[in-house]
Amino acid sequence: MKYDSEISRRRTFAIISHPDAGKTTLTEKFLLFGGAIQTAGAVKSNKIKKHATSDFMEIERQRGISVATSVMSFEYKNTLINLLDTPGHKDFAEDTYRTLTAVDSVILVVDGVKGVEEQTRKLMEVCRMRDTPVIVFINKMDRDGKNPFDLLDEIEKELSIHLHPLSWPINMGKDFKGVYSLYDKSLLLFQPNQKVAIEESVKVDDLSVPLLDELIGEKDARQLREDAELFHGVYGEFDQQVYLEGKTAPVFFGSAINNFGVRELLDTFIRISPEPRSRPATARTIDVHDDRFSGFVFKIHANLDPKHRDRIAFLRVCSGKFERNKFYHHVRLDKDVRFSNPYSFLARDKDVIEQAFAGDVVGLFDTGNFKIGDTLTEGEDFYFTGIPSFSPEIFKEVVNKDPMKTKQLEKGLNQLTDEGVAQLFTQHNGNRKIIGCVGDLQFEVIQYRLLQEYGASVQFNPLPFYKACWLVSDDKKKLEDFIRFKTANVVNDKDGQLVYLAQSEWFLNTEIANNPDIQFLFSSEIQK
Ligand code: G4P
Repeated sequence: MKYDSEISRRRTFAIISHPDAGKTTLTEKFLLFGGAIQTAGAVKSNKIKKHATSDFMEIERQRGISVATSVMSFEYKNTLINLLDTPGHKDFAEDTYRTLTAVDSVILVVDGVKGVEEQTRKLMEVCRMRDTPVIVFINKMDRDGKNPFDLLDEIEKELSIHLHPLSWPINMGKDFKGVYSLYDKSLLLFQPNQKVAIEESVKVDDLSVPLLDELIGEKDARQLREDAELFHGVYGEFDQQVYLEGKTAPVFFGSAINNFGVRELLDTFIRISPEPRSRPATARTIDVHDDRFSGFVFKIHANLDPKHRDRIAFLRVCSGKFERNKFYHHVRLDKDVRFSNPYSFLARDKDVIEQAFAGDVVGLFDTGNFKIGDTLTEGEDFYFTGIPSFSPEIFKEVVNKDPMKTKQLEKGLNQLTDEGVAQLFTQHNGNRKIIGCVGDLQFEVIQYRLLQEYGASVQFNPLPFYKACWLVSDDKKKLEDFIRFKTANVVNDKDGQLVYLAQSEWFLNTEIANNPDIQFLFSSEIQK
């Protein structure tokens, strides 16, 4: 309870979107408001440029730069905001999914012209798994897009989430005049190409006042009144509690590039979004207000310089106070560890920190002691749960091209998969090693890093699998029968859990139908 005031002023969240919807632009505007950067364009280096998609070294280099912007902490109106960055590139989706386990809420950016896109769907699925509260920002209102009612319908249907608009656009494209904030009952007028971060809104408590006609013209005022009546009927009153339970997503409209509607979004965000929350663990739910320190590693970033093998483990503090140079219990290794140079992430600079509180993310130098999901405590033995692995989409067999380097290869594969770069499976009752990734690019990264960092040379042979399912059953006999019968498709993951590799949706559905006593899970908790 000692740290309640620190906890209540923290907000830890991620901005997620399909690439190009405007995540980087919105992030940058937030940082400008928070005073963390002074000029527009400062965050761009964090973005993996489109032209570089075939050049993985360039992507890795850019990702190296992005370590510094992996977490951006800044103060805004006495709130300490920890904004966790997620890679836009789909080949790094697994990284994004894991980052979502470390946040308390998200802002989802949707391109108002394109509507719901592929990555948006996947990211929302992950949010739904954890009932993460979501705020939707519909961007690019300065361009001609879909009718807002249709767009909201589409988002609700495609993402299976209830929406509740807290602002409403007045036209769009070249006729875009601004938004009416249903939360503040004020009108925000749009001035294109407004580069400065200050906009003034006009209080309009009652939409029937003639002032509205003066401000936006008779026709648009009439339309806004009609729309308002309609959405009051459809959406009713906003209930913050339902948002906090992850069941309704408030919606804002704006234009990030024009810095429009961004401040309203940020102001409302700090008012309604959740402060750091209690988290489930193996022993019990760890109360965020517990004075004893606890935290878990959700991301590991390798140093790309082969001369420095060290890595950075990102630790989310879940309770108590983290202190520099204090010994903490590394639960999986059952040993005490301390950190002399933990750092916080303040915009683009890394600063050594003395202390951190629940909601904060601390960067820890690691020489190979951490893997994703590791828990640090003040002595108690428990693990935070809910840090799953998701099914990879591409599978390849590892072929060792240099038998003299077998040991190095084993070590390299183990360390790289601890980082979460890919998942490693081993043939059940055999030694064949299979790597599963979300994107093809990862194979190039692994091949390159195995050679550079471990001196191991490999080749990858494609395998005809499309999904991995973790097998669970209370009926041991049925499970054994299944394994015997499907030997070629059954592997073990790194934690020894049984995994079925399906060739196609048809095969998978057939097996699910034929084996009602076996559960086929599409994600697994990361086990120790
Ligand atoms: P991402 O991180 O989600 O991938 O998107 P990013 O912010 O990089 O934005 C993608 C493109 O959309 C950028 O243009 C950006 O300028 C533009 N954009 C962002 N917000 C708005 C908006 O409100 N209205 C309009 N019309 N465009 C917007 P680009 O040409 O790809 O890049 P750049 O040359 O501007 O950097």
